[in-house]
Amino acid sequence: MPLSDGFLQELKDRNDITEVASSYVSLKRRGRNMVGLCPFHGEKTPSFNIYTENGSFYCFGCGVGGDVISFVMRIENLDYIDAVKWLAQRAGMNMPEDGYDNSMSDLRKRIFEANREAARFYYNNLYSKNGRIGLDYFHGRMLSDRTIRHFGLGFADNDRHSLCRHLWSLGFKSSEIVAANLSYQNENSISDRFNNRVMFPIIDLRGNVIAFGGRIMTDAKPKYLNTSDTPVFKKSSNLFSLNNAKNSGERKLILCEGYMDVIAVNQAGFQNAVATLGTALTSEQALLMKRYADEVIICYDSDEAGQKATQKAINLLRNAGLLVKVITIPEGKDPDEFLRTKGNKGHDAFKNVIENSGNDVEYRLQKLRNTYDILTAEGRVAYLTEAARILAALDNPIERDVYISKLSKEAEVSADAIKQQIQKQSRSRFYERRKKEFKAIRDNLSGRGDRVNTEHYKKPRATVAEEGVIAYLVKNPDKLGKINSRLSPEKFQTEFNRKLFEYFSERIKNSEDALSAVSADFTQDEISKIYQIINSESARMANEKTLFENINILNDEFSGLDASDAGAASIDSIEAELRRLKEKHQ
Ligand code: UTP
Ligand code: MN
Repeated sequence: MPLSDGFLQELKDRNDITEVASSYVSLKRRGRNMVGLCPFHGEKTPSFNIYTENGSFYCFGCGVGGDVISFVMRIENLDYIDAVKWLAQRAGMNMPEDGYDNSMSDLRKRIFEANREAARFYYNNLYSKNGRIGLDYFHGRMLSDRTIRHFGLGFADNDRHSLCRHLWSLGFKSSEIVAANLSYQNENSISDRFNNRVMFPIIDLRGNVIAFGGRIMTDAKPKYLNTSDTPVFKKSSNLFSLNNAKNSGERKLILCEGYMDVIAVNQAGFQNAVATLGTALTSEQALLMKRYADEVIICYDSDEAGQKATQKAINLLRNAGLLVKVITIPEGKDPDEFLRTKGNKGHDAFKNVIENSGNDVEYRLQKLRNTYDILTAEGRVAYLTEAARILAALDNPIERDVYISKLSKEAEVSADAIKQQIQKQSRSRFYERRKKEFKAIRDNLSGRGDRVNTEHYKKPRATVAEEGVIAYLVKNPDKLGKINSRLSPEKFQTEFNRKLFEYFSERIKNSEDALSAVSADFTQDEISKIYQIINSESARMANEKTLFENINILNDEFSGLDASDAGAASIDSIEAELRRLKEKHQ
């Protein structure tokens, strides 16, 4: 049995989506709606809309949408029941005693508890006789006991069952320990995942231990073993030490490559360091950083891999709307090695490096300069051409001008010539972008871009009419009888829309709110699609006249009278799209 409609409606009433969203997105009023920069993809002009009339959101840039529950699911990385609990707590409401499947939520809770106990166990091990070797390792790497405690570092010993035994004694079931990925299943028993490694707990923003990294103390491989993805952990959407960094009091983060770098940088007095968890930076992580920072200083290793990763990270961070700086550690070291050589002068030395860090543009130009010989004419031409490409991507004309005059002095070429080259590059960038946008719109209209309703492109005319009917029904539930008397579900040509029509009709028949359980009953992609349908321009313009037109189209198509594709129904949406495009380019 699902959560009652009454409960869900009260939950939504008491958690205004504008209020909830505005602690993550800065919103401005536009007409009846609110708009802002989308927290789910990087963008510079706002396409994230909140529709106050129906308590939902939709982003035209990335196609993500939903109600306040889906918003919390996405932004807080929670499953449905945990998002509902989160909102209930926010509004001071009690969860109903039953009426929902709590098993996933319970399992997640048990995993958090098992992880916490494991972290405690590893930490205590470190200071026991067995753990001497681990403690010596950390001390050898110049970590103080204070730092070790602060990060809750630990030691997993050589006994393949010691953690299991400990967790069993505390009442954890094997299935829970395996689900936490603290152990794995053998033929007839389970074994600890981490053995003979020093341990780094990974803690989320609410203070839960969600995973571990474990480093071997020799040159054996793999150097680091990490928790695989579990019901509480997805490595691509978390950052090591963000829980700690977010309290630094400045909206600035230092992005390092590894655990040891973050810890060493912290020990030197910089709380705001974070690292990815054994993978390249993702756009999700960049957007997560944007929630706590305006500026990110990339501090990767100076080896080739580190430099490649830096170029990629620059793009991702810039796209997330962050200011980017790049630190190059002298003498080809990583931050941890650098700090170790500086002893107790680490803080000042690192501060100096930060203060001398260039921004991403300077970094890129510097890299370019190193690849071309600007003493030769060809080298200079190639260097300036490439440099113009970098500057063409800058939005800020002042920033551009600063580099133009620098380049002009450095390469002894007139500023005008460089400007012209940049203009050429900007034009082609502009056309490329426009071509892409038009393609996206074409794909959208033809249905080729529709990932959820996969029959859309085969039946574009019917699909648009179906969506019109569905949107109208959701907005005007009292018209269900009228619609039913003129249109039956089998007239729907696409299966997804038929399913939606039946779903909403059924709810309305049962006197339930059409939308209140959408977040429970559909996948995230489907939820986005539903809110796209409901919030589309044509849906909001819909009236009884357009409803009847849409019903006629479906009846026609069903009887095969008119199978032509670009019919009247899609004109609406083409016009809406063009209006939106115009608005965007103003
Ligand atoms: P590094 O190899 O640069 O290690 O990997 P490190 O952080 O400098 O560690 P130390 O100083 O040798 O102890 C950077 C990061 O990549 C991930 C880890 O998150 C590590 O911190 N990594 C590396 C793995 O997940 N697995 C590996 O086998 C190696
Ligand atoms: Mn290192």
